[in-house]
Amino acid sequence: PINDLAVTPAMGWDNWNAFGCSVNENLLLSTAEKIAALGLRDVGYQYIVLDDCWSLGRDKEGKLQYDPAKFPNGMKYVADQLHSLGFRFGMYSDAGTYTCGHYAGSLGHETQDAETFASWDVDYLKYDNCFNEGLSGTAKITSERYRTMSDALNATGRSILYSMCNWGEDYPWKWAQTIANSWRMSGDIYDSFDRPDPRCPCTGDEGYECAFPGFHCSAMNILNKAAAFIHTSAPGAWNDLDMLEVGNGGMDDEEYKAHFSMWAALKSPLLMGNDVRVMDAKSLSILNNPAVLAVSQDPVGSPAIRRWRYYVNDTDAYGQGEIQMWSGRLSGGDQLVVLLNAGNSTRSMNATLADIFYDFGPEGTAPEVKQGWDIHDLWANRMDYATAQSVLDGNATSNVTRFYYNSTKTSYKDG
Ligand code: GLA
Repeated sequence: PINDLAVTPAMGWDNWNAFGCSVNENLLLSTAEKIAALGLRDVGYQYIVLDDCWSLGRDKEGKLQYDPAKFPNGMKYVADQLHSLGFRFGMYSDAGTYTCGHYAGSLGHETQDAETFASWDVDYLKYDNCFNEGLSGTAKITSERYRTMSDALNATGRSILYSMCNWGEDYPWKWAQTIANSWRMSGDIYDSFDRPDPRCPCTGDEGYECAFPGFHCSAMNILNKAAAFIHTSAPGAWNDLDMLEVGNGGMDDEEYKAHFSMWAALKSPLLMGNDVRVMDAKSLSILNNPAVLAVSQDPVGSPAIRRWRYYVNDTDAYGQGEIQMWSGRLSGGDQLVVLLNAGNSTRSMNATLADIFYDFGPEGTAPEVKQGWDIHDLWANRMDYATAQSVLDGNATSNVTRFYYNSTKTSYKDG
């Protein structure tokens, strides 16, 4: 790892999925207050990330300028406010001439911009890939472009989580572990569970074909692409499956549960992407499921691996209707098993212990299959909707965080 950050996958919120370019100080601060009030900060959602469209060119000395209409008190003020609320502050730039939204990019300005971010007390940088002047096409060219900012951030002396956003171009899972704390591995997520998009089938190691921001990938597109290389994730260096869509309205409750579960099991960063100020009880009861969050943040940091996948009908190229089984190691000798039914009908699925423990033996030996397990359903004890509604209404006690931790603790800690 490049630093001691993101030992477990980063958790927080980013404005992009719900707000796009409509950013301002009030949005960030009111969102942070709400995240804290809902108990979500205390279950781990720490980073408040300001995405694209915050800037207004450079001054005479070349220093990046924030847009004073959007940020009347400046970025340092935002950082101070977020820090005093117990959050960390993330910002966005681009390894190109312009950002994807056509604002000033950092290519050629890496040292100066890293110093600017550090002077604003920024704790996290998302670094995009638009307008990169053709500096891509091989791992060497792309990795050098991203390493320049990595080194510049490191040289500031401030601890800044580095989130690379190059959409999987040039296969970052093969080389980005020594450059960044996480790297995007697909085109942008689209708020759909299994939207067929022939431009983004993402069934394997395509990399570049799914790279462009216009190629909006469904949750299943991204999941099926990640299956090929998710084992390259490890503490401090994670494949980023893109920001969450939970609460944005394009999937139903069961689909959002599956999306959230898979992102947690695969150890993707978990950045909420909805308007938390108006979210509904169902969304809250997904995003704050403590057992699933415990899987995401498990200290072993071992992503779940796909053990099998069955295609069920002819639309499966886009992840529709198929069933899959994933498993992974957890701390304390626990084992994660995920049965994913991506179809619309009830299915029976059988996972044998041999499948679940497939390849968990030491090199060259058969896996050790431990018998006699206690099984816990990590969704069975999630916060019920009525309780979630009372949290949203502000009627729950301030101890609500502890309340729902206690209520589920034994359901995922033994066995
Ligand atoms: C790209 C990124 C997105 C978002 C936008 C902002 O598409 O992949 O996550 O940051 O740019 O313009």
